[in-house]
Amino acid sequence: MTLVVGARPNFVKMSSIVEAIRSSEDSSLRYSLVHTGQHYDQKLSDVFFRELGLPQPSVNFGVGSASHTIQTARIMEKFEEHLLVEPTDCVVVVGDVNSTMACTLVAAKMGIKVAHVEAGLESGDQSMPEEINRLVTDSVANLLFCTSDFAVANLKRRGRSDSDIFLVGNTMIDTLMRNLDSTIASKGLDLEPGSYAVCTLHRPSSVDQVNELLSLLNTIERNSRVPVYFPLHPRTRKQLGFRSSQFEKIHWLEPLSYRDFLHLQKNAKYVLTDSGGLQEETTFLGIPCLTLRENTERPETVAIGTNELLGRDLEKLADAIGRVEDGNWKKGRRPPHWDGRTGERILKIIVEAFPRKRQSPTDGNHS
Ligand code: UD1
Repeated sequence: MTLVVGARPNFVKMSSIVEAIRSSEDSSLRYSLVHTGQHYDQKLSDVFFRELGLPQPSVNFGVGSASHTIQTARIMEKFEEHLLVEPTDCVVVVGDVNSTMACTLVAAKMGIKVAHVEAGLESGDQSMPEEINRLVTDSVANLLFCTSDFAVANLKRRGRSDSDIFLVGNTMIDTLMRNLDSTIASKGLDLEPGSYAVCTLHRPSSVDQVNELLSLLNTIERNSRVPVYFPLHPRTRKQLGFRSSQFEKIHWLEPLSYRDFLHLQKNAKYVLTDSGGLQEETTFLGIPCLTLRENTERPETVAIGTNELLGRDLEKLADAIGRVEDGNWKKGRRPPHWDGRTGERILKIIVEAFPRKRQSPTDGNHS
């Protein structure tokens, strides 16, 4: 089978599948890892491979940054060329980035089975590129692996048949559970647990209008009583430029490695974010999450977890910061199946679904 990764959150999710293959008793399992190169910075890619113990990819297309269309097209061209020389019986894609959609389309058009991990998510907001990626991927993938009942219901509503849908849990949480006890504080970040907040913002809708971004940051600056640590995604850094120096409570950081960030997150008093993954991780960790978006594709984190959607309303944000700092926040529970075994369940289903062809001698680099 061919496992596809391209951008930072993919590495975290795919790590769980790789671990499941490694610990499988079935020695005939073969896989290769393909990196599209959508993320290419050392800090967004290489360090994740090292920390998560991912094998070297058998190929890296090095597509880099470009418009969505160009990036998607480049990935499609390269992936088709790759599959022609390295045939496979099944392509496994994760999440909702451009690489996920591009590789799904290529495999589907070549008649190769596609398994989508984290299928069925839906925010209802097609102005987000990830929403389009999800809808396209889920309409052609063959095996649809879901994190929650909400995702299952979305797929059924879209007409996908029960036999293609599997409620398996969350691979990002598998990886979190495996690494939770081996996190390390990076230099200068060995902070007193509960004495600070963490903020991340990187989505175009959050950061591309710089005046709106500054209003949001000013609201955080004025209302938080604890220091706020903010690892800067390259897109956000570009937007803010020199203006980042006008904040005192907000401490800017370089993008952190997986373990460094998990350390910072697990000891935080609360998290402010527009990230989907952080909404899930905070729910698992029981840490209050203030989501600075109008919608979420992960409604279980609001319904039963610690997440609250605040939209772009600055008064609501100020009020929420006050409540969370006073310790006045809902407790939340962990969603069912978020138990650290999702990768194993997925692997078992893939192997049962495509039993005969998986021993193809042309499969890639089992390592
Ligand atoms: C992508 C995903 C998003 C995911 C995020 C995690 C899509 C549509 N978006 O967004 O869902 O949450 O990754 O980070 O696939 N850049 C660098 N170095 C890199 C990569 C990017 O400097 O290694 C800069 C480039 O200037 C680029 C910008 O960041 O223009 C945005 O990168 P891009 O790959 O387009 O998407 P992300 O915003 O990272």
